[in-house]
Amino acid sequence: MSDHVGVRHLVVTRHALVRQVLADPVTYRPDNALDAVTPMPVTALRVLAGHRFRLPPTLANNSGASHPEIRAIVAAALHPERVAAQRPWLTALVRDRVARLGTRLDTGAPVDLYADLAADLPLLTLARLVELPDAPVGAVKEFARAALELFWAPLDTDRQLALAAEVGRFHRVLRDFAATGGGLAGELRAAGHPPDVVVGALFFLLVAGQETTSQFLTLLLHRLAGEPAVRAGLRTGDVAVADVVEEGLRLEPPIVTWRRVAATDSTLGGTAVPAGSSLVLWLARAGRDPAVVETPDEFRPGQRGSRRHLSFGAGAHRCVGDVLARMEAAVVVAEAAPLLDGVAVVRPPWCPDNLTFRMPDAFVIRRSAGAPA
Ligand code: HEM
Repeated sequence: MSDHVGVRHLVVTRHALVRQVLADPVTYRPDNALDAVTPMPVTALRVLAGHRFRLPPTLANNSGASHPEIRAIVAAALHPERVAAQRPWLTALVRDRVARLGTRLDTGAPVDLYADLAADLPLLTLARLVELPDAPVGAVKEFARAALELFWAPLDTDRQLALAAEVGRFHRVLRDFAATGGGLAGELRAAGHPPDVVVGALFFLLVAGQETTSQFLTLLLHRLAGEPAVRAGLRTGDVAVADVVEEGLRLEPPIVTWRRVAATDSTLGGTAVPAGSSLVLWLARAGRDPAVVETPDEFRPGQRGSRRHLSFGAGAHRCVGDVLARMEAAVVVAEAAPLLDGVAVVRPPWCPDNLTFRMPDAFVIRRSAGAPA
């Protein structure tokens, strides 16, 4: 299909074919993963250049020789044991917030589960695992959302200029930190990676490592608000939290598509794919492939095929933050699902036009009249 600027893409929807593409980084390279879907005009490029913005391939779009080593350094920082060590701290934080929000709901006031619960949790957790620049949470969230819009949304020039200024400003903060910061930044420097690479890795991590998960938490809570039987199962212990998280990832992935570019001529599912083709892998659709899942559109934790979603990608570039994202989601589901009993949805999440990210903006609930506190 053609996109909003007339560029042609091959859209891949079937689970087996999406998997085949992801598993073959030689034929289908990740180089276009972070390309702007709305080409940037010279004016916006000048704004970025003014901030000395550069984004060399480091992680998701890196098909070069440096990828395995950069990935290994990031993966070590996000090792499952390090993630598990954060669980008690996160549980206490979420429990405290949920208690406060429950009290607010009892007074009849509305509660925004995005702003008041989910938005900053992944960033706060990431900051305990990876040394990050000392920037206010709000500034990091704004920068990350600006980056997702600048690179993945259909945009007009004025908006591109505004977003380029925002992203460029934060890039400067990252550059200063990359030169002196410890932890991951220090390790990348010590491994001999040039400053641009350190900035590029931090840039990607600050977006991928927190914005995705806060979006997912919001979408999952919204979904659970409409799934009373699943919540009842969680209460009685008949439904496992981990199964709810997996079914949520399958049905409400925060990243709905991901891109690859064909390096050579090939054939995919009987369709000719000329070299240079852009492939849009519809991860969300692949999660609902009836060839893989028994009841594809129903939220049935633990059903056959539930865990076979491709929401974290697959192959050499598969998400390295999956254990962290799953832990965060499990804590939020276990602690916050009871808040959804007896509430009415005042404002469901609204998601802007974006090729890849859902970016929900809010999720407001209120205790239904007559419901028990
Ligand atoms: C629900 C939350 C998340 C989802 C749905 C998600 C999804 C994805 C997807 C689809 C990819 C591309 C995979 C591919 O090309 O095959 C990816 C890559 C990546 N993700 Fe995540 N992600 C999430 C959370 C996180 C977190 C919490 C972190 C780190 C703190 C993280 C770090 C990364 C990194 C570094 C890559 C690039 C890996 C590479 O190229 O080697 N992600 N993620």
